[in-house]
Amino acid sequence: PLTTTGELVGRAAADGSAVASFNVITLEHIEAVIAGAESVNAPVVLQVSENAVKFRYGRLLPLARAAVAAAERAAVPVALHLDHVQSDALLRQAPDAGFGSVMYDAARLPYAENLAATRAAVDWAHDRGLWIEAELGEIGGKGGKPPLDAHAPGARTDPDQARAFVTDSGVDALAVAVGTTHAMTTRTAALDHALLGRLSAALDVPLVLHGSSGLPDTELTAAVGSGIAKVNIGTALNIAMTGAVRDFLAAHPEAVDSRGYLTVGREAMARAVADIIGTLTAP
Ligand code: G3H
Ligand code: ZN
Repeated sequence: PLTTTGELVGRAAADGSAVASFNVITLEHIEAVIAGAESVNAPVVLQVSENAVKFRYGRLLPLARAAVAAAERAAVPVALHLDHVQSDALLRQAPDAGFGSVMYDAARLPYAENLAATRAAVDWAHDRGLWIEAELGEIGGKGGKPPLDAHAPGARTDPDQARAFVTDSGVDALAVAVGTTHAMTTRTAALDHALLGRLSAALDVPLVLHGSSGLPDTELTAAVGSGIAKVNIGTALNIAMTGAVRDFLAAHPEAVDSRGYLTVGREAMARAVADIIGTLTAP
């Protein structure tokens, strides 16, 4: 059934676990995430990023309608989340498109402007009952930009600044820069565990990990034990799908029917989803 991110993150934060939130681009992504979550009987978040909306000719509704229909028929709770929203026009489409939550991304702006823009987005979202996440620090690596140096000064989230940001903006959750970078194709990122511990102690909202595809299993499990209650994963699904499709087409050069390679691509994504959820719920 369809639920909300606020419900799933609230439950995860209360029991010290994390909910996995997967970026979906096509109907096959939606089906694979739900199938993978059903195979391990776990709730899950489907998130659609502003970049994914751009890929869909700038239209949110067709993919959103598919996601809502799939979530309503799922055997596990499924929430819909709008991810990395920079455009106010897109933000305003969230409630009518069936999304119960948004991540408003003004992290590229200087602190005062990030705070002001986020504060306005929070007021708008809360008036409509939406759960809202924002980012402080810079996780980097989005939109085809070269990966940011996650160790550069200013790239990490400062705990004192984060405490003020959360209080002054009213956000429900905070995406923190603690060593991950978006769109990594190797699982070689390392978390700043000391910083994560300080952030978790300083803040009374759940923390969100972005760029999680770059982390090895052990680091994902450790993050969950350190106050992370929502784990965002995108690239890992694309790696799984593209690898499976590439192998299928190489083995079947005569193939024409798109269902052949979409089936193996979807199955590979579903297995990746189940594996990642298993990592997050490991004891
Ligand atoms: O918001 C989306 C996530 O941060 C996904 O990052 O593609 O590096 O896993 P990723
Ligand atoms: Zn992200």
